[in-house]
Amino acid sequence: MIQVIQQVADYIDILSMKNDQLEVVVSNYGCTIMKVLMKDKDGHIDDVVLGYDDFSQYQTLDAYLGALVGRVANRIKLGKFTLNNQEYSLAINNGPNAIHGGIKGFSYQVFDYKILNDETIIFHYLSQDGEEGYPGNLDFYATYTLEGNTLKIQYKATTDQDTLINITNHTYFNLSGKTENIYQHLLTVKADQYACIDKDGLTTGVFNNVKDTPFDFNKPAYIGERVNQDDVQLHIGKGFDHPFILTTYKNQVILEHPKTSRRLSVSTSLPIAQIYTANYLDGRLGKYGQHYYERDAVCIETENLPDAIHLENHPTTILKKGETYDEYTSYKFEVI
Ligand code: BGC
Repeated sequence: MIQVIQQVADYIDILSMKNDQLEVVVSNYGCTIMKVLMKDKDGHIDDVVLGYDDFSQYQTLDAYLGALVGRVANRIKLGKFTLNNQEYSLAINNGPNAIHGGIKGFSYQVFDYKILNDETIIFHYLSQDGEEGYPGNLDFYATYTLEGNTLKIQYKATTDQDTLINITNHTYFNLSGKTENIYQHLLTVKADQYACIDKDGLTTGVFNNVKDTPFDFNKPAYIGERVNQDDVQLHIGKGFDHPFILTTYKNQVILEHPKTSRRLSVSTSLPIAQIYTANYLDGRLGKYGQHYYERDAVCIETENLPDAIHLENHPTTILKKGETYDEYTSYKFEVI
C-alpha cells in the first residue's frame, strides 16, 4: 500500500510504501528515502537508514542522507568540463571540485509524482537547460517499486542536447537500527579493482587491485577489521570513500549484520559502487534524537565512474540527445 502520510509544505509530501515485510518512507523532495523499517530475527522492527527528524535539515544540510543525487554524482575535477568543444563551468562546492550535482542538485529539488499502484511511485523532474551549469533540458524519471522485501529504483532520462548524467542514491545504511556503528557489519563487494582518490576525494584515474589489500571484500569481511588498517588510500579517504569496479551482474554488494540477522543485497545495472563509510558525519542530530558520527553507516552508491568525463576515453556519463539513460538498482532487505 502507498499513501501520503504527511504534507511538509506546498508540493512536498512524505509517503509510506508498505507491505507485510517492509515499510519504506520517502519524500518527493529529492526522492529521499527517509526510513526503511524492517524486522530482525526476533520480529523486532528497526529503522535501518539514517535521516532527520527535522525535515528542514534535508533542505539545508549537505550529507545527502537518503537522497537521490544528480545530475552528476560525486566529483567533477575543478568543476569544469568540455563537451562537443564547448566548456562548461559548475559551482565549486567540495574543496576545489564540484560535487553531487551542484548547490541545488536533484537532492534539493521537488519532484512531481504519481502513485501508479499499490507498489509503485513514479517521481519526475524536468531539469532546465543550464541548471547548475549543465547543458540540455533533462527529462528525468525515478520509479520506486516496493515488491515484497525489495525496493527497486529505476532511473530514466532523456535530453534535448548532449549532456552529462550520473545518478546515484545516497542512503546511509546501518542494519543494527543504529544501536551501534558499522564495525560489526559484514560487507561483500564483488570487485577486483577500485578507483584511487586524491586528498579531495577526486578519482585520479589510477585503479588498484583489491587483492591482498583491505579493499578485498570478495569474501565477506567485517568493516571494523578493515577500515582502520594502515593503507595509503584508506588514510587519504579517512576510511572507505572509493568506487569499486563491479565484476558481477547481480548481488554485487551485500551487507549483513549477524547480531540481528539482517541482510541487504544490492543488485544494479550500473558498473560501480562507491562504498562510503560516512567518514564526514560530524555529530549532527539525526532521527530519534540520535547524533551521527563517522562510521555510523555505510553508503552503497551505485554509479558510473566519478569524473568519467575527464578519465574515460568514451565517458559513460555522457547522455546524447535522442538516447535514453536507463539504469536500475534494487535493494533486498531480508532476515537470514
Ligand atoms: C562522497 C563523500 C562525501 C559524501 C557526502 C560521498 O559520495 O564520496 O566524500 O563526503 O558523499 O557528500
